[in-house]
Amino acid sequence: MKVLVTGGLGFIGSHTVVELQNKGFEVVIIDNLSNSSIEVLDGIEAISGVRPLFEELDLKEKSRVEEFFKAHKDIVGVIHFAASKAVGESVNEPLMYYENNLNTLIYVLKSVLHLDSANFIFSSSCTVYGQADELPILESAPVKPAESPYGNTKQIGEEIIVDTCKVRSNLNAISLRYFNPIGAHASAKIGELPLGVPQNLVPFITQTAAGLREQLAVFGDDYPTPDGTCIRDYIHVVDLAKAHVVALQRLLEKKNPENYEVFNIGTGKGSSVLEVIQSFEKVTGLKLNYKIAERRAGDVIQAFADTSKSNEVLGWKAELSLDDAMESAWKWEKHIRNI
Ligand code: WQD
Repeated sequence: MKVLVTGGLGFIGSHTVVELQNKGFEVVIIDNLSNSSIEVLDGIEAISGVRPLFEELDLKEKSRVEEFFKAHKDIVGVIHFAASKAVGESVNEPLMYYENNLNTLIYVLKSVLHLDSANFIFSSSCTVYGQADELPILESAPVKPAESPYGNTKQIGEEIIVDTCKVRSNLNAISLRYFNPIGAHASAKIGELPLGVPQNLVPFITQTAAGLREQLAVFGDDYPTPDGTCIRDYIHVVDLAKAHVVALQRLLEKKNPENYEVFNIGTGKGSSVLEVIQSFEKVTGLKLNYKIAERRAGDVIQAFADTSKSNEVLGWKAELSLDDAMESAWKWEKHIRNI
């Protein structure tokens, strides 16, 4: 069975392609290479032994999207990752984010509706919850006003899918709200491509340890948390990738009672910034150079998932630990830096 993965050369996309291949799916990737590189195809092939079909295509080009789907009528499902995802950049470039993240979603969805098997998995984010009132966070927690245009595109994206599912019963969709994806495939043949100065914690940690960055700045240790630093639900990217395959299989096997569902994809465990650093130092035996700095604007204090719906309804559960993720992240950093 053929599955389309848009943004399939990206961090989460590439790991999901590998897990789809592990389950015997034929994968076709669409990527515009704006935030990824073609070498990722080599990494995927090195792991699975199968080189996915690949089309370099910008999903903002509506006619090319239509042509693609006409040439691939046998697609049984679409996993849609393609989007810009830098929170800070989105504040400065709102129109680029609304155009890139929403027009592409609309064009892909319009074509999906013509498939015999209109199954659609959407890459959403815990960012839709903002600072949740209750922890751990349930899928029923209210969606808060977005803190950034990026976060808003995830909220609007979900609403576009909800509204379409209401009037197109042939469309079956699932939104997966990721918490904080980290780590890399155990083989170190794919991982998070470091393009520019990392905004996220874990790539900044590994680049500091690799000597590319002078020192990690911990953005505040005066929060109302046990050690004063912010708490997040860090999920290993391989566990996250597997969740997409389980979600797609749920739709293919018609196990979904509703044609639109939402699931939190996290470990259900919160870890502070200092705990992430301690995990890194433990698994690598290295001492990380960091300092306590000012808080970062827009940071929520705590966010971690209630995973009971994912565990009991979706039938998926995270298996890898924070230590596993930090070890794989370091192995990947050493691989790309030839250390
Ligand atoms: C985690 C913690 C920082 C860098 C973002 C997006 C979210 C999703 C995941 C796309 C925070 C602290 C970080 C550093 C630090 N992206 N930190 N020093 O902000 O939880 O989520 O990435 O979907 O949408 O918002 O992740 O890794 O940036 O930060 O102290 O150099 O690490 O303050 O507490 P975040 P993050």
